[in-house]
Amino acid sequence: MAAMRIVLLGATGYTGRLTAAAMVRAGLAPVLAGRHHDSVSRLADRLAPLAPSPADEPRIALADVTDADSVRALLQSPDDVLVTTVGPFLDLGLPAVEAAVAAGAAYLDSTGEPPFIRRVFDEFGPRARETGARLMPAFGYDYVPGNLAGGLALRRCRDAGRPASRLDIGYFIEGRFGVSSGTRASALGVLVAPSFAYRSGVVAERRSTGGRVRQFDLGRGRSWKGLPVAGSEHLALPLLDPALSDVEVWLGWAGRWTTTASYAGSALGTLAALPGVGEGVLAHVSRRAARTTGVGPDASARAAARTLVQADAADAVGRPLVSVRLEGPSPYDLTADLLAWGAAMAATQAVAPGAHGPVDAFGLDALERGCADMGLVAVT
Ligand SMILES: NC(=O)c1ccc[n+]([C@@H]2O[C@H](COP(=O)([O-])OP(=O)(O)OC[C@H]3O[C@@H](n4cnc5c(N)ncnc54)[C@H](OP(=O)(O)O)[C@@H]3O)[C@@H](O)[C@H]2O)c1
Repeated sequence: MAAMRIVLLGATGYTGRLTAAAMVRAGLAPVLAGRHHDSVSRLADRLAPLAPSPADEPRIALADVTDADSVRALLQSPDDVLVTTVGPFLDLGLPAVEAAVAAGAAYLDSTGEPPFIRRVFDEFGPRARETGARLMPAFGYDYVPGNLAGGLALRRCRDAGRPASRLDIGYFIEGRFGVSSGTRASALGVLVAPSFAYRSGVVAERRSTGGRVRQFDLGRGRSWKGLPVAGSEHLALPLLDPALSDVEVWLGWAGRWTTTASYAGSALGTLAALPGVGEGVLAHVSRRAARTTGVGPDASARAAARTLVQADAADAVGRPLVSVRLEGPSPYDLTADLLAWGAAMAATQAVAPGAHGPVDAFGLDALERGCADMGLVAVT
């Protein structure tokens, strides 16, 4: 592990602390980076005993995303891996991805914000191919499990000689679920941003959810609804299979309020499109929410929630082909473990320059094994 240098920016936030602990436990000797010396140094002291050996203990660095030079200074070589949990990404995310592209380094983030993910693929991906940078955005609960379930479904369809044309991927949480300060701030920002879908072989804009919902049969009597959202699946899964023409991702967190939430999403989308509202009032509310950091469910509250993600594949005329259902630990534990695993993989495996989803970055088999080690497994 001596050659790799993994830098975790946002280490003192809620997701950052969980990720830092996962990295230290895994012996990755991360550089914990944040904007306040005292909080980063306290965190490093607290985590040092978790390191497998003194050589694996975390180090610290200071960086503030409002000072782009300080973020660039975190990276010293193209072999470095920058992992960032500093969000909302639409507001605070660009300096880190820009620094990674400039250094030709590897980059992973915890964003779940669709417009940011799209920007990483569309704008920074081509630049990364020139500098050698490897960009793996949305490497958490959003949206790794859906990419894995989708990749497994595509493979099963191919193996059965019936290629899939359409994938519907649903994200659900079983049990009680509390959200972190960063999730709350990012969700507010996303409400004001345009969304997208993958339809008939192209990524298409979507301003509103239009009250649409889809029902998923999740086994054991669970028939739950989701409303349409944009993820990295729309951008990454079509790269795996040219037969795939439609990808839709559905979010089922709202439970029995899903249909209402879908209509409310449309109304907010319309509201956000009004001059001065999206970039003005709603963005202001999101920025205010982002002032509170580091707060989220404790270990026992996290243990009450389970991740449930399903990919339903269909053929060109809509006939169901296969369903792959994954079940696993709570979204925040999963996000921390995924970021730590992805960072270790990015530090040790060859990844082609450019922007990637988790399957095309590391391969389906490796991702399936890595997720199984975290407790995220296919149950169908
Ligand atoms: N994809 C997923 O499934 C998933 C899961 C979890 C989280 N997330 C996303 O990850 C992000 C973080 O969530 P969270 O709950 O961990 O948020 P959080 O607790 O609010 O942490 C935000 C972090 O950003 C840092 N930060 C804020 N402004 C900064 C600046 N100017 N320079 C450097 N650092 C700065 C904060 O530093 P201080 O500690 O000094 O305040 C803190 O470490 C959010 O966007 C959230 O939506 C996504």
